[in-house]
Amino acid sequence: MSNTVRPLIAGNWKMNGLSDESGAQLKALIEKTNSIGNANCDVLICPPATFLREMSSIAAGSVVSIGGQDCHSAEKGAHTGDLSANMIADTGATYCLVGHSERRTDHNETNGMVKAKAESALASNLIAVVCVGETLEEREQGKTLTVITDQVKNSLPKGATAKNTVVAYEPVWAIGTGKTPTPSDVAEVHAHIRKDLQGILSDADNMRLLYGGSVKGSNASELMALEHVNGALVGGASLKAADFWPIVETCI
Ligand code: 13P
Repeated sequence: MSNTVRPLIAGNWKMNGLSDESGAQLKALIEKTNSIGNANCDVLICPPATFLREMSSIAAGSVVSIGGQDCHSAEKGAHTGDLSANMIADTGATYCLVGHSERRTDHNETNGMVKAKAESALASNLIAVVCVGETLEEREQGKTLTVITDQVKNSLPKGATAKNTVVAYEPVWAIGTGKTPTPSDVAEVHAHIRKDLQGILSDADNMRLLYGGSVKGSNASELMALEHVNGALVGGASLKAADFWPIVETCI
């Protein structure tokens, strides 16, 4: 982990939990963070949209930020079931994930759509967490770095800076499978993303690059120690404060 970039440990709750139990987990997490303040690391939880506002009010005044898991690219209009970035921001959330591989797969989201969503997030003053990652087939065909470059270059919002945008590398085959790439594979992709960003942005060295895919307490410190890994995007192990906290602890 680079010393100059403040890490971000983010939990993506996906389509899990109801407000009571999830609120209790968030309170437990906040209690733990209260013991350390916000000295070294930012912490983010992305709950289901139905209780974003409730989680935002629980987290208000704490070091834990709240984010949406997706947003529509349009500001408003006839898009039944969708939520605009403005609506996400209106709940008190300050971040929004875009382009998660589950959205890219389940909803056929293209890089162009992800970029438009990220731009809409920035326009609503949300920090966009742009997700990229290769499939197993792409990795086996030796296409990982080409796919990642394509996703980074074409999904990044116009106006992206290290302050308003985060990139999360999540190999699709590592999500929810218990499999993780080797530390040297992660290091290779993150160094590659950094290089791609240096070609596009003036403050690329400060942009947070998160690794995601089967991160847990037992493997987090090894992954977080890698150069150009500035935090984690955690699914399953973020649902319970007791599992998530050891991951946060690797950065404090
Ligand atoms: P898991 O940590 O459950 O593998 O999920 C990773 C992820 O997709 C986070 O966005």
